[in-house]
Amino acid sequence: MRNLLVTGGAGFIGANFVHYWMENYPDDRLVVLDALTYAGNLANLAAVQANPHFTFVQGNICDQALVESLLLQHEITTLVHFAAESHVDRSITGPDEFIETNILGTYALLKATKKIWIDTPVSQGQPALEHRFHHVSTDEVYGTLSATDPAFTEATAYAPNSPYSASKAASDHLVRAYHHTYGLAVTTSNCSNNYGPYHFPEKLIPLVIINILHNKPLPIYGDGMQIRDWLYVQDHAYGIDLVLNKGKVGETYNIGGNNEWANINIVQEICHLLEKAFAEDKTLAHKFPQALAAIHQKTETLITYVKDRPGHDRRYAIDATKTNNELGYIPRESFATGIAKTVQWYLANEAWWQAVMDGSYQDWLTQQYV
Ligand SMILES: NC(=O)c1ccc[n+]([C@@H]2O[C@H](COP(=O)([O-])OP(=O)(O)OC[C@H]3O[C@@H](n4cnc5c(N)ncnc54)[C@H](O)[C@@H]3O)[C@@H](O)[C@H]2O)c1
Repeated sequence: MRNLLVTGGAGFIGANFVHYWMENYPDDRLVVLDALTYAGNLANLAAVQANPHFTFVQGNICDQALVESLLLQHEITTLVHFAAESHVDRSITGPDEFIETNILGTYALLKATKKIWIDTPVSQGQPALEHRFHHVSTDEVYGTLSATDPAFTEATAYAPNSPYSASKAASDHLVRAYHHTYGLAVTTSNCSNNYGPYHFPEKLIPLVIINILHNKPLPIYGDGMQIRDWLYVQDHAYGIDLVLNKGKVGETYNIGGNNEWANINIVQEICHLLEKAFAEDKTLAHKFPQALAAIHQKTETLITYVKDRPGHDRRYAIDATKTNNELGYIPRESFATGIAKTVQWYLANEAWWQAVMDGSYQDWLTQQYV
């Protein structure tokens, strides 16, 4: 039985990780620390809220005293750190929160864990507690690739291009330094783009699904040929599980789906899947009468090209050979099964995404974040 502190567990990936972990390790106790920013949503955790092994604490990772008290009170020895400002476009218009949460917040967690797990017991003549600090990072720290460059490995030099990726890169370096300097038992995973249930509706895949259902334009940045390597979110949780259970302390592991898609092709694929869903389930036309698929018209006509984001990275691709070979990691979902499940989840969970968008839908329609 382990006691885990999961930061950012009310966000997209953190919540999926909580569900994954509680299903696979029902004896473990799990505490989520989340500030509930615009991206955090308690509804993402509704299914586990009544579980006596689950505790939710609303609070900021920058609050070192709070983190220390949670580590002590819940006898935490494993911390899985998801909490971050995570949306690249928001980092361009307002980088301050990214520096605050991603860099200073990670620093506060490192200070708190070092104090409780290493310094305090050692000062009392005890050995340091056995512990693990797992840091969840992104492939964006490696910068951008041309169409023919080899994919990012763990040895690729960092070259972040946005305030978001620069702040994540800074946090990765701090985590590494706390291992090398103070002996904190850390691991880091750098993952490619995730998709799946509970994905915040301003991101590309949910935005496209929801706009199609409302017969609204599908905004595509630039020429739409930006390439991302997409991974089903539960496969990210599975990869972190393997790193926690089999990974070597001090190491970093790339997690990816070996699944590169240009944005425009993803959008076309979703158009196709929704048309198929409407053809197979006649009740959808009543539920979403505005959708072109409800009147048998081509959904792709909604695609609209918009001005590209400044400094938009062209291609990300993850080489996960090390994680595959050393940890036996192989994603469980193919893109075909993962994206089909995702489309079905959004069709079945309208109440979830309507509540997230909460009446501000008009603002959302013109935005697109990848
Ligand atoms: N989304 C992706 O495709 C992707 C890919 C690779 C890595 N990552 C990384 O995975 C992690 C989770 O990403 P996500 O997409 O789930 O993000 P998200 O934006 O959906 O969720 C972030 C969560 O962190 C919380 N949070 C933000 N600031 C906080 C603070 N100061 N204190 C406490 N909680 C705070 C938010 O309330 C939210 O619940 C991030 O570290 C991100 O860099 C994301």
